[in-house]
Amino acid sequence: MDKKIEVRICFGTLCHVMGGAELQLLGEALPPDLKKHVEIKGSTCLEFCHQQGQGQPPFASINGRMLSGCTLQSLIAELYKELN
Ligand code: FES
Repeated sequence: MDKKIEVRICFGTLCHVMGGAELQLLGEALPPDLKKHVEIKGSTCLEFCHQQGQGQPPFASINGRMLSGCTLQSLIAELYKELN
């Protein structure tokens, strides 16, 4: 069975205005070899923005692991790491 990776993208207001809007395009930006392994879920605030010292928005998570300061490129790089 193919390994599945769950990505949660924050659609909360703070993350959205801090650059998270582009993360909504992740599904289209995924390379074909990653696409079959990735399940993308949107979420209202992931609550990371309420925790001190957790880094900068926009936030996302991969299999529950918090990621801060996300861009499409950094998320794709983290997905490759998770897969390997
Ligand atoms: S708005 Fe994104 S973690 Fe709170």
